[in-house]
Order: sequence, then C-alpha cells, then structure tokens
Amino acid sequence: MTTEAHAKVNFTLEVFGVRSDGYHALRSLVVPVTLSDTLVIEPDDVLSSDTGYPDDLVLKAARALDPSRGARIHVEKRIPAGGGLGGGSADAAATLVALNEMWGLGHSRDTLAGIGAMVGSDVPALVLGGPVVMRGRGEMVERAECPILDLVIANPGVHTSTRDVYALAGVRDASAPSATAACLDALASGDLGRIADSFANDLADPARRLHPEIVHALASLQEAGALGAAMSGSGSSVFGLAESAERASDIAASLRAGGFSAWAVRTVAEDMV
Ligand code: C5P
Repeated sequence: MTTEAHAKVNFTLEVFGVRSDGYHALRSLVVPVTLSDTLVIEPDDVLSSDTGYPDDLVLKAARALDPSRGARIHVEKRIPAGGGLGGGSADAAATLVALNEMWGLGHSRDTLAGIGAMVGSDVPALVLGGPVVMRGRGEMVERAECPILDLVIANPGVHTSTRDVYALAGVRDASAPSATAACLDALASGDLGRIADSFANDLADPARRLHPEIVHALASLQEAGALGAAMSGSGSSVFGLAESAERASDIAASLRAGGFSAWAVRTVAEDMV
C-alpha cells in the first residue's frame, strides 16, 4: 500500500517549563500541510525500512505497534530532516496508520495516537491527522478547526538540535493569556492579517540565538511578500501566509532564487488525511 506522510507546521508553540520526566510541558496548535513523504509498504516476514537513519522512527513505530510482525517499508523523502516540520514523526504516524490496516489490528486513531506517544512527542498529533491542539509533552491531542490556508515554507539549510533549543527555552507564565486560544480565534475570524499576527513560537528566540540563519530566513520570507513569518517547531524551517496558491508559488520561487529550499503548501483538513 502507498500512503502520504504529511509535514506539519506549529501555528503556536507555548512552553511552560520542565516536567519531572525531563520533557517540557507544551501547548501547541499543530497543522498538517500538503508537503509530504510517500511511504510504500509491502507485506514481508521481516521488518525493514530503507530510510538509512540510525534512529529510524518508522521501525520504532512498527515495533511499538507489534514487535512480532514484518513489512518492507520504502520512504520517498521530501520533508527536510531536522527542520521542525515533523518529517520523521510524520513517517512514524503514517506507518502506524498503514500497518494497523495491513495487519488487520483494528485499533482506533486514539489508540494509535497513544502508541505514537512512545515513539516521539509529535507522533500523536500527526496520527490524529488534521489540525490539532497538543498538550503535555505532546501526548494529549484534541482536534481543532482551521480553514484551508495557503502557506510558504522556507528552510535555511541549517539543522537545529531539538534538545539544545528546548534547553535554552524560557518559561511562559501559565496564567497569561493563551497564544493558542488567540490563534484559534483569529482562524475562526478568517482574517488573514489577524491569523498572520497570531503565530507564536516560544522556541524561536533560543533557535535564533543558536542559528542566526533563521533571522535571515524570517526577514526574507516577509521581504518576499508573505503575511507574517514564524518558525515551526524547534526550527530551522519558517513559514508565512499567502493570499492565494498562485501568490504562495511566486513567493516560494523568489525564496528559492535567494538560496533557500522553499515550498508553496496548503493546510490539510482531517478528511484529506
Ligand atoms: O520526543 P522527541 O524525540 O521529539 O524529543 C526530542 C528532544 O526534544 C527531547 O529529548 C527533549 O530534549 C526535547 N523535548 C522537550 N520537551 C518536549 C518535546 C521535546 O524537552 N515536549
């Protein structure tokens, strides 16, 4: 079977401090986009994948689902690794959903999201598919409403270490107004200017300090005509809004001419996953 593993962007990412397990408590609005890896999964007696990654989340996901079964998994990568777009987590989520079907296990999406939490913090959100508010370390996920939007994603070609970026993150006052609630309100209004202003990522400051290339990417995105510019996840990818698909393609082309990897994408609704 063939399946698409969608990348995500974080419209918001609020950090509330370190939990007793060492992970940071978060609140984040996670939105899948049309940029995707393609997974081709075939029945086999043994489990194998061709990603070549030492810490292969595809294999980790398959083993977490059922360590006794096999499958041959081919991944056609398009989502940049280490870019804050959830590439490895998206592959793991797609593996869980596809193998659940191929192996006839009959688990619900919620059960698969629970299994995904053992694989990586972003996996439960991506298993659910569609826009999601995630809390905790990422294990608590709830579907959210988001209109279909045209976005431009740019990647400056530097790899951020998620661990290092989190280690430098400040702590948000839990009693302060929720950036995620404000973003959901803006999305409900459908006003692109308000939506662009509501993007917020508490990891942007530490990531910018570690990698000044991200400052340049954010400025270039706005200079190229994107509405708003924010970082996704722990970076290094940044994204902004565009008024139309055509406008998003033009902005992406001008960013590519400036040396970035760039993609014109759309948000993905639950029923498209
Ligand atoms: O779960 P995942 O493997 O994606 O996390 C990578 C690293 O990012 C963790 O080892 C941790 O240092 C940091 N992290 C965190 N709090 C989170 C998610 C990730 O501190 N909620």
